Amino acid sequence: MEKIFDESIQGKSLSLEKDLKNKRNLYIESFGCAMNFSDSEIVASILATEGFNTTQELEEADLVLVNTCSIREKAETTVRKRLEKFNAIKKKRPHMKVGVLGCMAERLKSKLLEEEKIVDMVVGPDAYKDLPNLIQEIDAGREAVNVVLSKDETYGDISPVRLNSNGVSAFVSITRGCDNMCTFCVVPFTRGRERSRDPQSIVDEVNDLWQKGYREVTLLGQNVDSYLWYGGGLKKDFEKATEMQIATAVDFSDLLDMVAKAAPRMRIRFSTSNPQDMGLKVIRTMAKHVNICNHIHLPVQSGSNRILKAMNRLHTIEAYYELIDNIKKIIPDCAISHDIITGFPTETEEDHQATLAVLEYVKYDYGYMFAYSERPGTLAARKMEDDVPSEVKQRRLSEIIALQREHCMFRTKQHVGKVQEILIEGLSKKDNTMWMGRNSQNVVAVFPKETYKLGDFVNVRIHDCTSATLIGEAVGLSRTN
Ligand code: SAH
Ligand code: F3S
Repeated sequence: MEKIFDESIQGKSLSLEKDLKNKRNLYIESFGCAMNFSDSEIVASILATEGFNTTQELEEADLVLVNTCSIREKAETTVRKRLEKFNAIKKKRPHMKVGVLGCMAERLKSKLLEEEKIVDMVVGPDAYKDLPNLIQEIDAGREAVNVVLSKDETYGDISPVRLNSNGVSAFVSITRGCDNMCTFCVVPFTRGRERSRDPQSIVDEVNDLWQKGYREVTLLGQNVDSYLWYGGGLKKDFEKATEMQIATAVDFSDLLDMVAKAAPRMRIRFSTSNPQDMGLKVIRTMAKHVNICNHIHLPVQSGSNRILKAMNRLHTIEAYYELIDNIKKIIPDCAISHDIITGFPTETEEDHQATLAVLEYVKYDYGYMFAYSERPGTLAARKMEDDVPSEVKQRRLSEIIALQREHCMFRTKQHVGKVQEILIEGLSKKDNTMWMGRNSQNVVAVFPKETYKLGDFVNVRIHDCTSATLIGEAVGLSRTN
C-alpha cells in the first residue's frame, strides 16, 4: 500500500528516521578500580554527542563497551568470560559491535582482536576522544585500534555522564597515569606517565555536581598526593618548569584546600594515597576543613623493608609508622585502610610476620588484601621468579584476612554510642524501611527512614554494629542541605 505524505510531514518523517538511525544503544560495563568507572562516564559523555543512549539492558545494545582491568590475572579472566556472554548475545543481534577499553586494551593491543574473535575495537585509556572515528571504522566493517598513550590528556574538558549513579556521590578524576613503577604493578604500562588535571576544571566539576544535588565527591588518582598542576604536561617534566610555573604550581594539599573552600558543604574524599608522597601539609589541610572526610586509604603492601625495596616502594616501614603516628596525632579519629600483597617473590615467613605486625600496630579500619599475581612485562615478572607456592600465598592471605576481620570489628565498635553525621546514599539493601549512608570514616550505617531524604546529612546515634555496619537512629538533620 502506498502512502502519500504532504511535504512537511514527509520532511518530519525523514528526520525522525534519521534520528532513529542515529540513536543507538550503548551498553557499557566497567571492571576494576574507581578510575575505570569514572572513565566510563567520560566515554558515555563522548558518545552521547554521537547519538548514543546508554542502556542497562545488554539485549538492547547496538554497541557494547567493556572497560577492563589488568591488575591481577583473575581480573583479565573475568573479562574474557564476560566476552563469551557477549558472544552469545551477538548471535541474536549480529549487528551488535563490541569494543574493549581500559587496561587490557592497552596491555594486549591488537593481539586482543586475534585472541577474542568477538572484539571489533580496542581502545586504550588515553584514546577515548578518538572513539567517534573508531566507531566509524567498525561501522564500515573494519577493525579499529587506538592505544596511543598521551602526555597531556586528562579529559578535563569533558563533563561526565553519571552512570548508575545514586545522585549523591560522584567520582572526579584529578590525575591520570602513574610514574611510580612499583615492580609488581601493570598500571604504569597501561595508563602511561602521570599528569594532573587543571584545578579550575576540577573545582568547576565539583560545583556543577553540587548544583545537580550531589553531596559527596571522591577525588581520584593512582597516587593523589603526587598531584601537581603547573600549567599542564607530565609530572616528570616539572623539572623543566619556568620560575613562574613553579611559583604558581598547585599541589594536592592546595587542590584539597581549593575544593573544600569552593564547595564548603560538599563532602570530600580522595583515593589513593601513596605513603612515600603523603606529607604533613595534606594531613593539616584535612584537619582544617570539616567537609574533608577523616579517612585515608594508605596501601602498605608489605611490612618487610626488604620486600618493600624489592617492590620499589620508596619508603621504609619505619617511615610508614611515622606517617601513621602523625595522622593519628593531627586527626585522632582518622580511619586508615590498606592494600596488602601476600607472597611477593622471595617473601619468607619472617617477612609475612612483619606484615602481620603492621596490622597489629595500625589496627586498620579495613583493607584490600591480595595474593601476588605475576603480571607480564613488569619488572618483578622480568627479574624475579614467582617462587612462593600458591598454597603458601593463600595461607598467608587467610591469616591476614582473619586478623583484619578482628580489627574491622574493633574499629567499627569504636563508633557505637556516638552521634555521627551520616550522608544518606540510598536504601539499606536488607531492609527498605531503613536508609543507608556512611560516616566520615567511610563506615556504612543504617537507620530508620522517618522523614529524611536521599542526600540529607543526618546526625545518627549509633547503638549497635556488625563488623562492617553501624546501626542507629536519627536525631536530626546535621546541616541544612
Ligand atoms: N595506586 C593505585 C594502586 C592500584 S592497584 C590505586 O590508586 O589504588 C590496587 C592494589 O592492587 C595495589 O595497591 C596492590 O595492593 C594490588 N596489586 C597491584 N598489582 C598487583 C599484583 N601484581 N598482584 C597482586 N596485587 C596487586
Ligand atoms: Fe601501581 Fe604503584 Fe602506581 S601500585 S598504580 S605503580 S603507585
